[in-house]
Amino acid sequence: MTPARRQAMQDTAIDDVVDWWSTDISDIEPGLIRLRGYPVQDLIDRAGFVRTIWLMVRGELPSRDQASLLEKALVAAVDHGPQAPSIAAARMAATCGVGLQGAVSTGVGMLGDVHGGAGQQSMHLLESIDSASDSVGMKDAVARSLAELRRTGRHVPGFGHRFHPRDPRRDPLLQAVAEHASRGVVEGRYLAIAEELERQLAQGRSRPVPMNIDGATAVVYCELGFPPELGRGLFILSRSVGILAHSWEELQSGRRIKGPIPRRLLPAYGGHPEREVPRS
Ligand SMILES: CC(C)(COP(=O)(O)OP(=O)(O)OC[C@H]1O[C@@H](n2cnc3c(N)ncnc32)[C@H](O)[C@@H]1OP(=O)(O)O)[C@@H](O)C(=O)NCCC(=O)NCCS
Repeated sequence: MTPARRQAMQDTAIDDVVDWWSTDISDIEPGLIRLRGYPVQDLIDRAGFVRTIWLMVRGELPSRDQASLLEKALVAAVDHGPQAPSIAAARMAATCGVGLQGAVSTGVGMLGDVHGGAGQQSMHLLESIDSASDSVGMKDAVARSLAELRRTGRHVPGFGHRFHPRDPRRDPLLQAVAEHASRGVVEGRYLAIAEELERQLAQGRSRPVPMNIDGATAVVYCELGFPPELGRGLFILSRSVGILAHSWEELQSGRRIKGPIPRRLLPAYGGHPEREVPRS
């Protein structure tokens, strides 16, 4: 390296390094921790966990009412038992010697577009209907979206459930949104869209297809102004609690190498019957 090059690097190095991890979130110096400008000791004293989550991802503290609605959504999605692939996978990982961290990250790593992703897709749907409502009215915008989903053979994200005829998390969440809307904490626009979706989806069916946890939390997160990607992030945050609890329970059992089905059962084999390897 030429001396001139070395000198040029030295002249800019400190600023470059300082700016490399520039952030608006946390300000840390020896003996000082400020999050979004608030000393952490004050947050510990007065903010609470849910308001701190909002502060961290949104930049400002929410009102108590906003935080209470967010908290309900976070509580609702905390667990769905080992029927959920992410929980089952975390529990299996916990028996494989990868420790608590390995088990939790296995479970979280399975929350993708198909398992755990319907909430984000539901938020996109609610937002697109909301935008279209300006020109064609809300009911028509809902009808058009449903027709488009039917035409392309897709299910409506946030509706229906494998084994809950009516998801027990739906009513308390929607009631909370309605109650917050009546006090002006949220507008209730997305609640109205989701309820209209549910009404139109049920038309002509013998059994309705009620909103599920992903649909109901999508309503909460849209009403609170979270973008869809953050909705997925909040779901992951919430479900991580269940994943942690299940991983810990399985670790404590001391069981080793737990497979997906009890050992006395075997997966069906549908391949070629036994045959001889050719000798030449
Ligand atoms: C979860 C899901 C896979 C369950 O589907 P399922 O096992 O077929 O549910 P059911 O057997 O109760 O379905 C009954 C009927 O409702 C329909 N249905 C179920 N969910 C639907 C949805 N979201 N949109 C449109 N129609 C739906 C089914 O196609 C079926 O119709 P049919 O009677 O004409 O055949 C499905 O509801 C779905 O894909 N939902 C969207 C994704 C989602 O929100 N996932 C998160 C689940 S917590």
